[in-house]
Amino acid sequence: MNSDVVIEAKDLKKYYTRGTEIVKALDGVDFTIRSGEIVSIVGPSGSGKTTLMNLISCLDTSTSGTLIIGGQDVTHLKESQLINIRRKYIGFIFQQFYLMPNLFAIENVELPLIFAKKPLDKDKIYKVIETVGLKGRELIPAYMLSGGDKQRIAIARALINDPQVLIADEPTGKLELKVRDQLLELFRQLAQKGISVFIATHDLELAEKTERIIHLQDGKIVSKEQSSLYH
Ligand SMILES: Nc1ncnc2c1ncn2[C@@H]1O[C@H](COP(=O)(O)OP(=O)(O)O)[C@@H](O)[C@H]1O
Ligand SMILES: [Mg+2]
Repeated sequence: MNSDVVIEAKDLKKYYTRGTEIVKALDGVDFTIRSGEIVSIVGPSGSGKTTLMNLISCLDTSTSGTLIIGGQDVTHLKESQLINIRRKYIGFIFQQFYLMPNLFAIENVELPLIFAKKPLDKDKIYKVIETVGLKGRELIPAYMLSGGDKQRIAIARALINDPQVLIADEPTGKLELKVRDQLLELFRQLAQKGISVFIATHDLELAEKTERIIHLQDGKIVSKEQSSLYH
């Protein structure tokens, strides 16, 4: 395996049962993600994007196939081992951000450290907030931040454990175009530091500005393309 491959999926499947029906949410996908790459995954609603994001984030397990994260086959790991992989490799930005509205911006960023029982390294916390462009706004309650700034705090929170992969599920759902371009710029800065960014989106304009696009349909990859617009 190439040494800078961070994630490798082979014939990955996730089937759900809904009553008597089997839903093939992911039906045999193969791909690799290298460090520092920005990859978008596009497809219509129900095509399996969120399912794939959840598998890569170790929030859920596959029905069959192989998933390798950081050189380790995570396919058959137990829940407690998956939590460790998740903490070590993955930063996840949920579509709804899930900030604690009444906590300060900085306290939201500290939450993963508190959950992981790690020391609150203030230098690091301030640095991460600076990285996402919110220096000076540490002590604003989350509910008072704009939509774009809430998302930046969600990103800072995802970055606080030094993940190798940042995963964003539909990150531009409710954001204005200008905010979207700023977000992309932030992702590019992170990618330059070697972080892989994996974005699920149905925003094709956003996808075209990423390095690679994986198209999903009915749980299958229908095409993989190198983006023509990417510089
Ligand atoms: N927990 C679940 N139980 C049953 N079916 C599910 C579950 N989660 C997702 N699905 C189904 O799997 C398919 C893929 O869903 P999803 O990954 O959420 O797609 P997307 O994010 O692209 O909209 C859909 O048909 C969806 O209804
Ligand atoms: Mg989804």
